Amino acid sequence: MTNSTLAFTHQYIPARAEGAPTLLLLHGTGGNEHDLLGLGQALHPHAALLSPRGQVLENGMPRFFRRLAEGVFDLDDLRQRTNDLATFVAEASATYGFDPARVIAAGFSNGANIAASLLLLRPGVLAGAALFHAMVPIVPEPLPALNNLPVFMSAGQRDPLITPAGTEQLANLLRAAGANVTLYWQPGGHSLTQAEVYAAADWLQNQVGEE
Ligand code: MLT
Repeated sequence: MTNSTLAFTHQYIPARAEGAPTLLLLHGTGGNEHDLLGLGQALHPHAALLSPRGQVLENGMPRFFRRLAEGVFDLDDLRQRTNDLATFVAEASATYGFDPARVIAAGFSNGANIAASLLLLRPGVLAGAALFHAMVPIVPEPLPALNNLPVFMSAGQRDPLITPAGTEQLANLLRAAGANVTLYWQPGGHSLTQAEVYAAADWLQNQVGEE
């Protein structure tokens, strides 16, 4: 289902059970709104799925915010696009009728980075987040109070784009802000593995049950 009055091109799939959460699915560089629908179903078979397409084009590849080089982000653009995404989630909640207090992000790479930015700059938008292969997008001053907010992170020990040190920095930053971070390592590189998806699904089930 899509609604063209909302600012982001997106897919929305309603929840299959009363009280199930909504997963905000955020694709990686070069992806689109269709890419993570299967991941969302694997993470929680009954959840509503809200999957926007990033509005920045880098050589034709959609992203959620601009970068100046690999791993070097345009922070003004990131702040603006993080606010735009927060507005989209609120408007989508009003349009589709899902509970805005039960939105959990699931993002990969660039999508995980903007999910982390939402946590850091717009606390209150997300009730939790699964961040696959994320790094520190921005360090806000002061840090938000994340009040034990559940965050799952997974990363590859040989990921050339998101280094183990970058992963640890983000986990430490989110913990310093008060998030309850579960960190899962897989031995490979930047690709998302089945084992990470299973680990995230277990984590999510512990957070929200199987409504
Ligand atoms: C990517 O290619 O998506 C990067 O590794 C992460 C980012 O630019 O946000």
